[in-house]
Amino acid sequence: MTAEKVEIVKDVYWVGAIDWMLRDFHGLWTPNGGTYNAYLIIDEKVTLIDTVSANFTEELLDRIRTIIDPAKIDYIICQHVEPDHSSTYEDMIKAAPNAKIITSEKGAEFLKLHYPGVEFPLEIVEDGASLSLGKRSLTFVKIPMVHWPETMISYMPEEQLVFSNDAFGMQIASPYRFADQVHDWYEPLRAYYSYIVRFHAKAVLSAFKKVEGIPIKIICPSHGPIWRKDLDKIMEIYHRWSSSPEKENAIVVYSTIWKSTKKMAYAIREGIASVGVPAEIYNLEEEPLSRVQGAAMEAKAVVVGAMTYNLDPYYPTAAFMPYLKHLRPENKIGAAFGSYGWSGGATRVLTEELKEYKFGEVLDPLDVRFRPSEEDLKRCFEYGQEIGRKVKAAFA
Ligand code: FEO
Repeated sequence: MTAEKVEIVKDVYWVGAIDWMLRDFHGLWTPNGGTYNAYLIIDEKVTLIDTVSANFTEELLDRIRTIIDPAKIDYIICQHVEPDHSSTYEDMIKAAPNAKIITSEKGAEFLKLHYPGVEFPLEIVEDGASLSLGKRSLTFVKIPMVHWPETMISYMPEEQLVFSNDAFGMQIASPYRFADQVHDWYEPLRAYYSYIVRFHAKAVLSAFKKVEGIPIKIICPSHGPIWRKDLDKIMEIYHRWSSSPEKENAIVVYSTIWKSTKKMAYAIREGIASVGVPAEIYNLEEEPLSRVQGAAMEAKAVVVGAMTYNLDPYYPTAAFMPYLKHLRPENKIGAAFGSYGWSGGATRVLTEELKEYKFGEVLDPLDVRFRPSEEDLKRCFEYGQEIGRKVKAAFA
């Protein structure tokens, strides 16, 4: 059964698709499913903002049919060419044979490259251009790299409503369409931001500058719920994550085979907590890496542990390291620890990587040979205290 369309303001509808079974969105852990949002505007010109992933074309069309015959669509606004929004277009131009696809110059280029041989009825719009739909209009604002170079958003001044595409999005399936109806949106929003957006944080800040002073009452993203309340709060969160997301806390992450590195991790966490700094701990063999990445984004100190496996960090920690790189960790404190049997090597590699990723400060690593003794665990505790004190000093 197709869920109801939802009217956001008069004659502006959510007509997207809900993917209840989505558990992995190109590497982003999505335990609660996801959504692909599309929006239909009924005016003199019938306009569809974005579409959905191709598996959901029929769901999109069914939902549109509850409002209007898709053949009456005049414009399809292509804000972003990534296939989760554009892979329906070949079907959509058949269902809406009179529609023009409105996009940026780069959007047109990317569509041609993504769908070679398809003759899309393209119309290119410039940054800042307006399109009258009748009673309402859309103004297009390019926000390159949020999340691809061609990305643009669309602003409807008459309703003070912005179609923000990936910005302010999250992956969560819900029977509710508005963020104020959804509990526990913070972690899904953070996971989406850290995995998809944080690498482009400077571009987000540039986008904020571009729309500064424009009154906004409603934000309609391309994933997850619509924001219609407490917009100051969501703007503040996004602004903070794009500038300095770090809070006065630390995380300790590790992977282990025979539990020596695990013992070290817990002793380090205890040391950090002993100076009054909260410290979460994650076993990278058990946690989805993108979930840990979200926690790492807000941590002032990231302490990475791995036992040495054939001269290198054990695989789960090795696999996690690029997630830290993509957080742009210039304001973070980094440290590495781990156990080894004979040659060692894991902490040397991890420390080099933390430096290469441009962590603001990288401590000398902490190694333990085979199983940590009481004396070794005391060293781990003190190592944690040193990290905790540095975190405290950064916020003093
Ligand atoms: Fe939702 Fe960057 O695509």
